[in-house]
Amino acid sequence: MSEPTPQDQPQLELAPSARSWSVLTSSPQETEAWGGRLAPLLEAGDVLAFRGDLGAGKTTLVRGLARALGAKESVSSPTFVLMHIYEGRLPLYHFDAYRLHDSSDLYNIGAEEYIGTEGIACLEWSERVESLLPPQTLYLELSYLSPQEPQGRRLTFSGPSARAQALIEELRHDP
Ligand SMILES: Nc1ncnc2c1ncn2[C@@H]1O[C@H](COP(=O)(O)OP(=O)(O)OP(=O)(O)O)[C@@H](O)[C@H]1O
Ligand SMILES: [Mg+2]
Repeated sequence: MSEPTPQDQPQLELAPSARSWSVLTSSPQETEAWGGRLAPLLEAGDVLAFRGDLGAGKTTLVRGLARALGAKESVSSPTFVLMHIYEGRLPLYHFDAYRLHDSSDLYNIGAEEYIGTEGIACLEWSERVESLLPPQTLYLELSYLSPQEPQGRRLTFSGPSARAQALIEELRHDP
């Protein structure tokens, strides 16, 4: 019997242990700055899945990311058109699934060609299109802190894959 070749072996996608990591932000600028810190770590095929209530700051973070990738256009919410493309160091595909019930509308526009392929995909309301998210997805959850802190947000990074965990480790150790 021959040894299994690397192609025969299942790809190790899961990290040995999955940690989530949270930071607090106290202004839209600080949330944008986290997009700026994430941008240089990203590679083609990375997928960022955003979760969090209306107005929590998902688009704000994507704005910081697009800017740091070198996009010239200003970032607005793609709620009605489903996807915006920003050209920078890598193309950024920005989706918003708020109006969708499931993944079918995004499949209809061929979204899977943009997700986990040659650029960076950001999906707001990603919980509505879970079936489109590849294993390497990094999840970013934004939540409000308290009514006493209207500009306070918690930003939590998570994801079980080796790629998501590597990004979290890099962010944690970024000075
Ligand atoms: N710490 C903060 N981080 C991000 N946004 C903040 C913060 N504090 C206040 N804001 C305000 O909250 C709003 C966030 O709006 P944004 O469009 O980014 O939210 P969203 O999560 O994309 O909402 P939606 O679900 O409608 O797409 C902005 O008006 C922003 O100025
Ligand atoms: Mg938004």
